[in-house]
Amino acid sequence: MRLKIVLLPGDGIGPEVMVQAARVLQLVGDAFGHQLHSAQFAIGAAALRRHGTALPTETLNACLGSTAVLLGAVGDPAFDHLAAENRPESGLLKLRVALGGFANLRPARTEEALIDATPYRPERVAGADLLIVRELLGGLYYGQPRGASPDAAFNTMRYTREEVARVARVAFEQAGRRRGLVTSVDKANVLETSQLWRATVDDVSRAYPHVRLEHMYVDACAMRLAFEPPHFDVILTENTFGDILSDQAAALAGSIGMLPSASVGGRVDLYEPVHGSAPDIAGLNRANPFGAIASVAMMLRHTARLTREADLVENAIRHVLSAGMRPADLAAPGTLVSSTSELGEAVTHALGELIDHQHAYHAV
Ligand code: IPM
Ligand code: MG
Repeated sequence: MRLKIVLLPGDGIGPEVMVQAARVLQLVGDAFGHQLHSAQFAIGAAALRRHGTALPTETLNACLGSTAVLLGAVGDPAFDHLAAENRPESGLLKLRVALGGFANLRPARTEEALIDATPYRPERVAGADLLIVRELLGGLYYGQPRGASPDAAFNTMRYTREEVARVARVAFEQAGRRRGLVTSVDKANVLETSQLWRATVDDVSRAYPHVRLEHMYVDACAMRLAFEPPHFDVILTENTFGDILSDQAAALAGSIGMLPSASVGGRVDLYEPVHGSAPDIAGLNRANPFGAIASVAMMLRHTARLTREADLVENAIRHVLSAGMRPADLAAPGTLVSSTSELGEAVTHALGELIDHQHAYHAV
C-alpha cells in the first residue's frame, strides 16, 4: 500500500497532537511494509503569520496532490479581530471545499474504561456508540448571500436536493454496516431547508429497505442525546446542527479530545480531530492526542482500506486507557495523568506489542 499523506499541524495544540499521530502512522507503515509518505505544510494562523494567508497555494496544491490529509487544529485568538473570511478558520473552510469531502463522519462512543470520566451515571451511557454524519459543504457556513454592516449581519441557509441526497446516501450506507438506524435531524417545523431535507432523506431511504429511518427535530435530538445516548446509531444532519451536536456528543466519550473525524466523498479525504486549537494549553504537553491518533485509524480504514491496521490502532488506544493512563482532560480518581508525549509513546508501545502478537499468531 502506497499513500501520500499531507500533514497540516496548524495552530495551538495542533502541532503537539500531530507529532503523536505521525509516530503512529510511521509505525504502521514500518511494521506492515506500507509506504506511507508524509510531508508537512502550513495552515491557519501559522500560515497567516508566515505567508499572509490561512491557506497558502503551496499547501492547497500539496493537499490536492495527496491521497489523504491529516489536520491538527486551526484557530488563534490573536486573529479574533479579523473578518470571518480572513480568520485562521477560513483556511480550513476553504480547504474542505477544495478537497470536496461533503460527508463528515464523527464517531463518538463510550469506552468502558472512560465511563467514570463522562458526566453520566454508568447505566445511562453504557454502550453508547454513535456516528454523526454531518453535511460539511453547505448550509449557513457557505450560503450566499452573506454580509455584515456595523448594525446588522446575515447568513443564508441554502440546500439543494442533490446536496442532501449525496450525504444521506453516505449515512444509510454507514448505518447498513452498523445497527441499521438513521436518525435524520432537522428543524422541519420552522425551516424550508429542513422540509427539503426531510423529503429528500425520505426519498433516499427507499433504496435502503434494511435501514430504519426516523426524523427528529434538532432541539429534541439535543435533549434525547443528553438523556438517552445509547438510543442513537447514525445521526444524519446539516452543517451547523452537526457542528453543535458533535460537540455535545463529546460528553459520551468523556472529552472532545477523544473524537476523530473524516471528511469523505470528495477528491481527497480529510481527517481531523473534532477538537479545536485549545490556545490555553498550547505548548504545555497537556493536550489529548487520542482524537488525532484515532483520526489516523479512520484514515487507515476509510482511505487505505487497511481494516486490520485501523483496528490495531484503535485497540492500542483502548489498551492505554485500560491501563489507567489519562490525558489531563480525562483525569479521574485512581488514574495517572500523563503528558501528550507520554500518551503517544504509550500508544506506539502498545501498538508495537499488538503487532508482534499478531505476527507471532500468524507465524504459528
Ligand atoms: C469543527 C470546528 C470547525 C467547524 C471550525 C474550526 C471552523 O468547530 O470542525 O467542528 O465549525 O466546522
Ligand atoms: Mg465544531
